Order: sequence, then structure tokens, then C-alpha cells
Amino acid sequence: DWNMPDYVAEAVEHIRQQVGSDEVILGLSGGVDSSVAAALIHKAIGDQLTCVFVDHGLLRLNEAEQVMKTFADNMGIRIIHVDASDTFMGHLTGVTDPEAKRKIIGREFVEVFQNEAGKLKNARWLAQGTIYPDVIESAGAKTGKAVSIKSHHNVGGLPDTLNLKLLEPLRELFKDEVRKLGIALGLPPEMVYRHPFPGPGLGVRILGEVKREYADLLRRADAIFIEELRNTRDEASGKTWYELTSQAFAVFLPVKSVGVMGDGRTYDYVVALRAVETTDFMTAGWAELPYSLLGRVSGRIINEVRGINRVVYDVSSKPPATIEWE
Ligand code: XMP
Repeated sequence: DWNMPDYVAEAVEHIRQQVGSDEVILGLSGGVDSSVAAALIHKAIGDQLTCVFVDHGLLRLNEAEQVMKTFADNMGIRIIHVDASDTFMGHLTGVTDPEAKRKIIGREFVEVFQNEAGKLKNARWLAQGTIYPDVIESAGAKTGKAVSIKSHHNVGGLPDTLNLKLLEPLRELFKDEVRKLGIALGLPPEMVYRHPFPGPGLGVRILGEVKREYADLLRRADAIFIEELRNTRDEASGKTWYELTSQAFAVFLPVKSVGVMGDGRTYDYVVALRAVETTDFMTAGWAELPYSLLGRVSGRIINEVRGINRVVYDVSSKPPATIEWE
């Protein structure tokens, strides 16, 4: 039986004993795990914690601002915000292969993080939002994407090169416990109950070569989709469609198709909507979203995002399709 106030008090005490007066750095992604780890460690040691938030230019609409607002403005956490989008975009130019894109993004991420961490001369600890399922997963043999998920997401390799000790205060917790802890620490529910977002971000949701123009269009389309999912309730359950789906997002297809608008012809890009229901993300079913919701999302995207004139819905399950398109 889990008593939250006791747990928080114990965890805080444990972190204080572990790090003493040392300084700690943490790579904040805006995802649930690193966010909760940051909030917990900050509660324990305040300004001895410095977070590094790397913006690779492939985040969702207003995501960087939201992260800074929540953590820096509202919680008073020290954050170094690195806008590295030019560097990332530069390295991604001409690259179309999904795994090559993942490698580049992962490598650059480590590079940028390492560079910032190197400036914090007194840091002795690297904090990570590793949770219990990560511990189990990395103990077992993993292939394909799962490897890149972990190696990228948890900034693999850093402790060795930076000579930092690892601080992983969520190591014993399951996801639902991490979420409860996040709420208890005062994080906004929208953040704590967010759908997962891959480390390479929009980099694997723009098919083929990543371009800033594509990312800008995709961000706006995606934001409209998510807003409508959050604002539309299923009558039977009373839940929003955001809550009823495990992961939902828009995918940018760099192909052009013909449309009409007013008296004119358009020749613009296509966006695919993806929404799945799953518990383990190993298998997933496409979500049977109401037609009315899909229609509203499509109408808004085509009207509001100039440059996109067609929206399609992905009705593929995993397997054989994966959740992401790359
Ligand atoms: P797939 O597409 O393999 O995705 O069905 C399963 C889950 O993993 C996420 N995913 C990633 N997460 N880095 C990440 O941090 C990655 O490279 C990556 N690729 C897929 C995906 O969003 C889904 O939740």
C-alpha cells in the first residue's frame, strides 16, 4: 500500500543523503519521466539541480515555451534552454533513412547535452528519469527501435564520458506511480497524463528528409488534432478522446495532391492522422474515432494550415504497421 506523502518525504531524504552538497544535472525533455524526476530532485535539493533542455527544432507547437513556463517560471527550477534547431536541421539535410535520422538526432542530442554539462564544472551527478520498466527492458535483449528508444531517450553513454554518478530516483516506480508522484509534486495534469512523444520528435513524423517548412506545417496540424481530441468527449464513457487514445499525432507526407479552394486550384501537402489504443505499445489497434471528430479536424487543418489541402486517417494496426510511420 502506497502512501504518497510518506513516499515523497522518504525519496527527498534519500536524494539529500545521496548527493549531499554536490551539484546535479538532468536532461529535461518535457516527457513525464524526466519532468517528474526534475520536480522530485528539485524538491530535495533546490538550486543544486540544473536542468538542460535541448530544443532540437522537432518539438510540438509551443512545447519549449510550455516546458520553460512550467519548470522555470512556475517551479523556479534552474534550466538551461539550448536552442539547437539550426545544428540539428543542418545535420539532417539530405538524410531520408529513418534509422539514419534517429542516429543523427541521438548523436547530436548527446553532443549538445555533453557540451552544456561540461560547462557546469561542479556537477558530480547525472540525474535521469529511468523508471522500473526501463530497468527491466535494458536488462533483457532488445532489438530494433527499442534499442534506439533507450539509448537516445536516456542519454546513453554520458556517465562514462562526463565522469558523473547516476542519480535515478524513479528506478523502482511503474508509470502509473510516476504519474501519481508527479501530481503530488504539483506538476500540471496535462503534462503528467500526456501521450508519449518519441525522442527524435517530429523527425520521425516527417517522412523522408526533414525540413523546417515541413516541421512548421506539421506542428500546426498536430496541435489542431490534439486540441480537438482533448475537447471532444465520448458520450458513453464521458471521457475525452485524448484520454481514450494512448497516442495520437499527425504525420507529414511530403507528397502533393490537387485540391480546389475558392476559384483556384491548390497543389499542396498531405497530413495523415494516427490514433491508437494500446496498453504496452508492442501491439496497438487504430482508434475508432467518431467521423464527426475526424471531419472537424480535417476541416480545421485544411482551412487553417495553408500548405496542406488533404487529410487522411490511418486505419492500420500494429502489427504489422508500427505506431510511428518511421
Ligand atoms: P513503434 O513505431 O515502434 O513505436 O510502434 C512504439 C512506441 O515507441 C515510440 N518510439 C520511440 N520513442 N525514440 C523514442 O523515444 C524513438 O526512436 C522511438 N521510435 C518509436 C513510439 O512513439 C511509440 O510510443
